[in-house]
Amino acid sequence: MIHTILTYPNPELKKKSAPVTIITDAVRELARDMAETMYDAPGVGLAAPQIGVHQRIIVIDVSGRDEPNDLIIAINPVIVHSEGETYEEEGCLSVPNYAANVRRHASVVVKGLDPDGNEKTWHAEDLLAIAFQHEIDHLEGILFVDHLSPLKRDLFQRKARKAAEAAAAGEK
Ligand code: NI
Repeated sequence: MIHTILTYPNPELKKKSAPVTIITDAVRELARDMAETMYDAPGVGLAAPQIGVHQRIIVIDVSGRDEPNDLIIAINPVIVHSEGETYEEEGCLSVPNYAANVRRHASVVVKGLDPDGNEKTWHAEDLLAIAFQHEIDHLEGILFVDHLSPLKRDLFQRKARKAAEAAAAGEK
């Protein structure tokens, strides 16, 4: 089932997500729905809070196709090692029509569980490393725009407010 993706400044996006304690069929179904929602958007990653579910589940597929190719489903993902630095343009399905460069680690090692409850370790570099950091941020209630400099962030917020006002005016 495809879910509605919440967008900035929805307060649900600012909440911290809780660890998944038992991987039930409902959790597996949620993960499948998240993947379906991500491919439909289309996007390269999605975290559960983006559809209003505050559980630590992320899906990623950086191959950029609109169907499963290199699908990663990570439950309770934790970055256990990170190194290097990168500064690439990022976007987010919850922040439509906006992109900006963000400083991230160039490579990360992530541990977590797959939908069968098996412990997994992912060694990620470049785009995949960025995606893991971006999606795990969502589980903490952090959006990529929160990483911008105060000046850039101020510009973003003004732009978002204007867009919201224009949309509201259009509805009248
Ligand atoms: Ni995002």
